[in-house]
Amino acid sequence: MVLCLCFSNFFFFFFCSMEYQVIPVKRFDEVIEHLRQNFFADEPLNKAVNLCKRGEGHKYLEEHSLKTLEANLSVMAVSDANEIAGVVLNGILRPGDLQAAKKKLQTKDDEKYRKIFQLLYDHNLQTDIFEYFKIDKAFDMSILSVDEKFRGKGIAKHLVENSESLAKKHGFKLLKADATGVFSQKIFKSAGFEVLHEQYYNKYVDNDNEIILPVESPHIKLQLLYKRLD
Ligand SMILES: *[C@@H]1O[C@H](CO)[C@@H](O)[C@H](O)[C@H]1NC(C)=O
Repeated sequence: MVLCLCFSNFFFFFFCSMEYQVIPVKRFDEVIEHLRQNFFADEPLNKAVNLCKRGEGHKYLEEHSLKTLEANLSVMAVSDANEIAGVVLNGILRPGDLQAAKKKLQTKDDEKYRKIFQLLYDHNLQTDIFEYFKIDKAFDMSILSVDEKFRGKGIAKHLVENSESLAKKHGFKLLKADATGVFSQKIFKSAGFEVLHEQYYNKYVDNDNEIILPVESPHIKLQLLYKRLD
């Protein structure tokens, strides 16, 4: 009986001990490698245009990720073997940032990348969140990624909760996230986020009525979600 208990405690510890930390500069390279192995290949919009193969790097996605990491507001889940099990990359969004980013997008020589970010920027620009929520900055949760090996353990949910605490600590009044797939949409909703607007992928078409981003099921729409903090 006692032995049994010890065993189950041991396994509980073994499988459930995950530490959540703000990502330090010295682990940025490891985070990029994690994204190459997971998010870059798995994210529904990347997948729809075949942006990169698993393990492959991507110049613009990596630039974008590093720039976000440099705000020092991103959070990682670290296993007891010190592996990165999951990350959420959080940045600061200020008035005019999206307009500037959209303009800069035209200079990027990668049509697939431009297609993805054109949708994301245009979708975000439908509402001036700074005016709408009376804020001067938003905590922007731009990438949520969990290693395949560690999925189904509630890590994404904990990453979002830890980010919320961090945002509060830094005085943010609004969390925002663009969720491109059903899994992240479910997680943000269960964390108390609300949908500001959404775009069905099969209604996002060009002049010839062709679907621009043929996203695979079960993902059907892009959602812009937010959560007010006070
Ligand atoms: C992030 O942390 C690094 C290392 O501590 C520091 O050099 C850098 O200035 C910080 N960046 C911001 C935006 O605070």
